Amino acid sequence: MFRDIERVLIDQGVIAARVRALGQEIAEDLARDQRRRRENGTDPGRVVLVPVLTGAMVFGADLIRQMPLKMSIDVVAVSSYPGRSVASKGASIRGELPQNLGGTHVLVVDDILDSGQTLAVVRSLICEQEPASIRLCVLLEKKKPGEPSLVKPEYVGFEIPDEFVVGYGLDYNGFYRNYPDIAVLKHEAM
Ligand code: IMP
Ligand code: MG
Repeated sequence: MFRDIERVLIDQGVIAARVRALGQEIAEDLARDQRRRRENGTDPGRVVLVPVLTGAMVFGADLIRQMPLKMSIDVVAVSSYPGRSVASKGASIRGELPQNLGGTHVLVVDDILDSGQTLAVVRSLICEQEPASIRLCVLLEKKKPGEPSLVKPEYVGFEIPDEFVVGYGLDYNGFYRNYPDIAVLKHEAM
């Protein structure tokens, strides 16, 4: 695995510090939402974290432990980039979508925002259930000049250039998810 890595883009220590800060910020925002509703005499609403599998597995696992808040977790599986292709081919939900999200505070967590197709699909399907609030959180956002993405997440860990990255949950063809840093692969490994 290590011999396929060209260079590290974001080191694991830097990721950990950012995830800690993100978790605290998000938890405060969610707690504030609940407090306001309680003060207005409405049901404060449960917090439900919705990680997008499989990419958000590592990020989500670290993020939830930085959120000192009562929450439940309900995953959604989305396929994008079928096969070996690295060009976005659209997103489709695999299996069941989380249910009973009406009146809850949903935090959708994904590894990376590219075109935004994945999160646009997930968000619109969740919104049909009328949650009290919905927020999107991505660890990485690819910056593409002149190509605005379909969604604007409330929380972004890092903006990165338009390069294909692996590690910390992100894969190439199913591999490298367990690489601890975020890295660029060697050309010959792709
Ligand atoms: P989008 O639907 O175009 O925003 O693509 C988002 C999905 O594509 C993410 O959930 C990832 O699974 C995958 N993806 C996009 N860019 C990369 C990358 O650089 N490395 C690994 N996976 C990526
Ligand atoms: Mg993904």
